[in-house]
Amino acid sequence: MHRIDIISVQPRLMESPLNHSIVQRAKDKGIVEIVLHDLKDYGLGKYKQVDDTVYGGGAGMVIRCEPVFDCIEKLQNERTYDEIIYMCPDGVVYNQSEANQLSLKKNIIILCGHYKGIDQRIRDEIITKEISIGDYVLSGGELAAVVVADSICRLIPGVISDEESALTDSFQDGLLAPPVYTRPAEYRGLQVPDVLKNGHFAKIAEWREEQALKITQERRPDLLE
Ligand code: ADE
Repeated sequence: MHRIDIISVQPRLMESPLNHSIVQRAKDKGIVEIVLHDLKDYGLGKYKQVDDTVYGGGAGMVIRCEPVFDCIEKLQNERTYDEIIYMCPDGVVYNQSEANQLSLKKNIIILCGHYKGIDQRIRDEIITKEISIGDYVLSGGELAAVVVADSICRLIPGVISDEESALTDSFQDGLLAPPVYTRPAEYRGLQVPDVLKNGHFAKIAEWREEQALKITQERRPDLLE
């Protein structure tokens, strides 16, 4: 059983996407366990404080060390973690190759940033990997954590029944996916390419390869370098 623990000040933000579709199926099959933790449960004092003002001055609030260390150490006392990831816009940009590698790990913690960020000592001492999902700023790491969790789950063997299907995803062979069609063969005069209707396996594979290459050249030449 794989396990992903996600720590956040807004855990409910992630409930719906993690309770539907393929991620839900992975959980139902007992292949993945995803546990959401509310950092406020580890907050300080009567008001369960998790953040504070920035040393040296400046706008915004920063997540304090104590709640994060307490929460992560509690989890580490229960099991060993292979990776403790911090979601942040200044992390290394996520891609399919990283998703493949993370899908091989058994236990992962994902810490979501919020406000102005988290105390640097957390990043220096306990975080093993910092991930960004792209060059734009989200209001918090939650949506990014969901993206990472989803991309991992679909790669774990047994989650997608037709394993072929995850292997033919865009990026999995370094190329974007070729076009797909379904019935009817003609819609408003628009035709499905003949090659796909003839059932000639080798020709279809060749066509898909050509199309994937063409689309990748047009849209993402950087992937071919
Ligand atoms: N938190 C805010 N923006 C983010 C991003 N682009 N990726 C990961 N975490 C984030």
